[in-house]
Amino acid sequence: MEDNSSKLGSMQHETAQATDHLPHIPASQVQAADGKNGSRLWIVIDDIVYDVTEFCRRHPGGEMPLRHFAGQSCSWQFRQIHGPQTLERYRELQVGRTDGVPNPYEKPKPKFSPRLLWSRLF
Ligand code: HEM
Repeated sequence: MEDNSSKLGSMQHETAQATDHLPHIPASQVQAADGKNGSRLWIVIDDIVYDVTEFCRRHPGGEMPLRHFAGQSCSWQFRQIHGPQTLERYRELQVGRTDGVPNPYEKPKPKFSPRLLWSRLF
């Protein structure tokens, strides 16, 4: 029988992360790109590095959240606010791949709710 799960996995990979062409950037270099003293302003979402130095001035959510996460990872925060298609429209901001760049905040665990229980059961 055909294994659709791996096919789905690779489709998601293609749409969200066709990033093999991007250079690998060491975490220390990413963390140094904090937008201060003339350096570039980079943020990391799902181990992809985005250069938001110029974009931050036209970001609909303002400069502040991007400056706050400068040189850091903010994947779950990004996902809480934006739709799944948002990054598709901003591929030109991608400058590299990285790993080991920490997120400064732990993701809060979802609190119990009858709705959550219902969605897990059915
Ligand atoms: C490459 C990085 C980012 C891109 C391309 C981006 C793009 C956008 C876009 C297009 C919108 C308009 C709404 C939408 O289309 O989803 C938006 C809104 C917003 N973004 Fe971002 N964003 C980025 C990173 C972030 C980060 C890291 C944060 C904070 C953790 C953030 C916080 C917000 C907020 C607060 C809004 C306003 C939401 C509202 O008014 O309802 N963004 N962003």
